[in-house]
Amino acid sequence: MPTILGIESSCDETAAAVCQDRLILSNIIASQDIHKAYGGVVTELASRAHLQAIVPVVDQALQAANTGLGDIDAFAFTAAPGLIGALLVGAEFAKSLALAYDKPLIAVHHMQAHVLANLILSPAGAAGVPSFPFLCLTVSGGHTQIVLCKSPLDMEVLGQTLDDAAGEAFDKSAKILGLPYPGGPLIDRYAQEGQPERFKFPEPKIDGFNFSFSGLKTAILYFVRDETLKNPHFVTENLADICASVQARIVSILLNKLKLAASKTGIKTICIAGGVSANKGLRTAFARMGLELGWKTFIPPFEYCTDNAAMIAITGLYKFQAGQWEDLAVVPSARGIF
Ligand code: KG4
Ligand code: ZN
Repeated sequence: MPTILGIESSCDETAAAVCQDRLILSNIIASQDIHKAYGGVVTELASRAHLQAIVPVVDQALQAANTGLGDIDAFAFTAAPGLIGALLVGAEFAKSLALAYDKPLIAVHHMQAHVLANLILSPAGAAGVPSFPFLCLTVSGGHTQIVLCKSPLDMEVLGQTLDDAAGEAFDKSAKILGLPYPGGPLIDRYAQEGQPERFKFPEPKIDGFNFSFSGLKTAILYFVRDETLKNPHFVTENLADICASVQARIVSILLNKLKLAASKTGIKTICIAGGVSANKGLRTAFARMGLELGWKTFIPPFEYCTDNAAMIAITGLYKFQAGQWEDLAVVPSARGIF
């Protein structure tokens, strides 16, 4: 049973996790609160915060797993995509460990890892995992994709966003409403008290399995501007209903495309993944759609939806078993496809 240490540092979370086979022994995440003051992630501050956090976070992950560096069979790190200065911190740290302990080094694609979070076994072994092939709607702050997964390391992107990602649509809408960054979880929270039918926002007409969210953002901007001219307290007086209506539209854009992809491919095992899959409105509507259409649906546990290193460790495990190791010359990349 291989034991893998995973390290994630692609954006504003420094994370480390240990997996043994497909069981997660520890999953430690240090979030960088410093960005809140700026309304978005400041890349240079992110790199510096990763440098400060990486040693204690890895240390905590080893302690919580009751293991030591000498017991690790391979060191996996996020190699792409992400902020390059942030990626470099995790990459160089993993390289140093692989060199010092003379163990394999494994480069992981962050979006592939979000998908494979669905294959993590729960400690009780109760919750099932999807069988291949399956479709995964991966929705995060930087990406929105429908991925056809033929095996753990054989994935094909069937469609993706042409402009903003779903997480950006949440965060930018929140910003228009005067909510702090990251606004996605706040829209989720307010939406629970609101009426999703109250305000109607447009659904874009985009061919195939691709998405677009920039028109929605503009529609919300003009809507809020016009209503605030009539009533300066419009946003505060109607916040829950606006949030519920925005969320309902983002969710319907996502799920209508997922439904199309499922019907065109004939695949009925369907997963969601990525930070936005933490959204309660999406989780509920996805489960309901699955019941209606006879899908087998899967959503990773909450802590494996937003950025984490458990998903890096599990992807590292599959790559370790497939012999997909890197030498120390490997460099991370801000972009990069799988
Ligand atoms: O996957 P993730 O943690 O990081 C990236 O790889 O981007 O996703 C972060 C995104 C942010 O846009 C955040 O606002 C959104 O996920 N998010 C949510 C929720 N939790 C996180 N959006 C809506 N509802 C949530 N509950
Ligand atoms: Zn992510």
